[in-house]
Amino acid sequence: MSEPLILGIETSCDETGIGIVRGTTLLADEVASSVDEHARFGGVVPEIASRAHLEAMVPTIERACKTANIKLADVDAIAVTSGPGLAGALLVGVAAAKSLAVALGKPIYGVNHLAAHVCVDQLEHGPLDEPSVAMLVSGGHSSLLLVPDITEDVIQLGQTIDDAAGEAFDKIARVLGLPFPGGPYIDKAAQSGNPEAIDFPRGLTTPKDLAKHRFDVSFSGLKTAVARWIETEQRNGNAVMVNDVAASFQEAIVDVLLRKAIDACLSNDVGTLVIGGGVAANSRLRAEAAHRCLEHNISLRIPRPGLCTDNGAMVAALGSELVKRGRDASQLSFATDSSMNIKDVVAK
Ligand code: KG4
Ligand code: ZN
Repeated sequence: MSEPLILGIETSCDETGIGIVRGTTLLADEVASSVDEHARFGGVVPEIASRAHLEAMVPTIERACKTANIKLADVDAIAVTSGPGLAGALLVGVAAAKSLAVALGKPIYGVNHLAAHVCVDQLEHGPLDEPSVAMLVSGGHSSLLLVPDITEDVIQLGQTIDDAAGEAFDKIARVLGLPFPGGPYIDKAAQSGNPEAIDFPRGLTTPKDLAKHRFDVSFSGLKTAVARWIETEQRNGNAVMVNDVAASFQEAIVDVLLRKAIDACLSNDVGTLVIGGGVAANSRLRAEAAHRCLEHNISLRIPRPGLCTDNGAMVAALGSELVKRGRDASQLSFATDSSMNIKDVVAK
């Protein structure tokens, strides 16, 4: 018998993602993004995102089925992000998923978005090593996770105590006059900048901070330091070297993230680091992670950039693993949970 066919629906933020997988084989990954509609506000506007999901849902499902060359009736189970994320946006995806599950008479899995970000790597690099350490860095989250079992046992080691990593990229880009979302623009500007031009602070890395926040990160001090530096330069009549600021800021963020991630691997005796989330598309983070993991004999897994940002394939990938390991499906009455805890991989 062939492996089960899973349809995954992701609507936790501004991307309507529909993924179709069979086992760990990716058949379709269609994404409709409303990012352009949010650009002029400098951040995602929840109401606009919800409405965009509603409009994009049916056409994106149709596109995915066409790409995968399947009919909806062929699907064995539906997986959908039930949290964490924007409340209204989650509701649109979950309502669509429930309707499909009822219409097709198939089981439904309401899954945790963070666990899905980790699981998606299976589509590219094969079965996940368990335990792994996973670092998720995006516009909405910065989490360091210990993953003994991706389908039922994920432990949070640390998280951001203020801004998410991507949020910091986006805010600094704004200060530098770069477009939204700023991460890719900072990445590009940094390529011709000097990462050692300015020594920006590395938050939560002093021995005193580490005692309380060993695996947590904080970017508010860094953000303030960059803003102050720019203000001072402008006040002194100097031209702000955007590329140098971008490179030095990026270096500080990448350095802190990787120090914490490597420490998490070494102190938990874990030999694999998985990195996911939109910021995992960052070229400096990818290169420096490869360098430091090699130094410490840690095997590094980062999905290709298209699978790092929010998408439906990651939800389908986790759904597929849940089916494979015989985990219980969700009740049809399960609720969305905008602050879903990582301890819950599947909604009850
Ligand atoms: O995972 P994602 O698509 O959505 C969520 O936030 O869940 O991540 C989007 C974030 C944005 O903050 C964006 O600026 C950042 O990922 N990002 C990057 C890069 N590409 C996207 N940050 C740094 N460097 C990049 N190349
Ligand atoms: Zn995400």
